[in-house]
Amino acid sequence: MATAHVVGWGKYIPTRVVTNDDLSHMVDTSDEWIRTRTGIAQRRLVADEQSTSDLAVEAAHRALEVAGFRPALVELIIVATVTADMPFPSTACLVQDAIGATHAAAFDLSAGCTGFIYALSVASDMIGAGSYTNALVIGAETLSRFTDWTDRETCVLFGDGAGAVFLQAKDLDGGVLSSVLGSDGSGAELLAVQAGGSKLPASEQTLADRMHFITMRGREVFRFAVGALPRATRDVLEKAHLDLDDVDLVIPHQANQRIIDAAARSLGLPAEKLYSNLEWYGNTSAASIPIALCEAVEQGLIQRDNLVVCVGFGAGLTWGATALRWTVRAPSAPMSRWETLLYSVQYRYASFRSRLLRALRAITAWWTKE
Ligand code: COA
Repeated sequence: MATAHVVGWGKYIPTRVVTNDDLSHMVDTSDEWIRTRTGIAQRRLVADEQSTSDLAVEAAHRALEVAGFRPALVELIIVATVTADMPFPSTACLVQDAIGATHAAAFDLSAGCTGFIYALSVASDMIGAGSYTNALVIGAETLSRFTDWTDRETCVLFGDGAGAVFLQAKDLDGGVLSSVLGSDGSGAELLAVQAGGSKLPASEQTLADRMHFITMRGREVFRFAVGALPRATRDVLEKAHLDLDDVDLVIPHQANQRIIDAAARSLGLPAEKLYSNLEWYGNTSAASIPIALCEAVEQGLIQRDNLVVCVGFGAGLTWGATALRWTVRAPSAPMSRWETLLYSVQYRYASFRSRLLRALRAITAWWTKE
């Protein structure tokens, strides 16, 4: 039976840097407080004209380029996000159109900061079942659009970004070995955006009450996280009949360095076995694990045959982990000029095709109206 293997990876981090000192001019906080309580030094925020799908498209491009795969042959796109461009259509459909994945099924998946783990699990199961031979799995967020920049307890934590992996079916040992997923909706209020859905539609009152922003009960989320991370890591290894000693690198959700350190202690692993980059990006929710995975590969920390555990927790409450055996080598050289040109032609064609289809629809509507 074929299993899902990661054959491409990519990330996109917006260029605008907001440091802790910048935040200390906006709310009553300090670089010292944020660093010692969270480990975060800065975060990246989107430009005014960017949205979640723009970040997702950039990460998808890079993942496909690393895999050397044509967008038109992608069969499945899952975007894990809690900050979709709009309630519907899905951000995944916008990505499908923008990259020219003309034969792909596409949908969004919402599981808070665990979204990427959920998406990876769903995609690898669909590949394992033989329904698809490849899948683009993306975690993308623009949390800055839902952050209350007057609330010091949350605004210091979050950032924007996107990461992606490209999965392919292979008759090879390794790839995605096991996944565990969990949820506990009794903790729904701990981390939420309360208004803007069917329960509390947008109104003058919800706006006045600032209910379209993220609210969080930080200490309770912290307590949940320090239990969930090690538990999910142990469970996913047990499911794959593997041991903690077999693990080469853990990619934890990047929420708070103290949570990562507590997980390392609880698992009895040295700190360097748990990858961390939240100092530079803050918590990017569903994007944090694929961004960290991508960076770890780029830094040579993940090599062929390594066992990697990706593990997350988040709003819902949700948690989950995936164990994967890495089976590919990172590209030894950047793309050639010829390859760069080939991809650029495909991206331009996708954009042209999208505009043409929209224009044809407008002409058809005009032609057929009474
Ligand atoms: N700057 C300065 N002081 C701050 C502050 C900030 N940005 N945010 C909170 N404080 C204050 C609090 O008001 C409190 O003051 P008080 O003692 O006078 O009431 C004090 O700092 C301590 O607050 P506390 O909540 O106990 O801090 P903490 O050590 O628990 O750290 C978090 C707060 C949010 C960093 C921590 O609870 C956390 O990381 N929780 C998990 C959050 C998370 O991961 N969310 C995403 C999940 S996917």
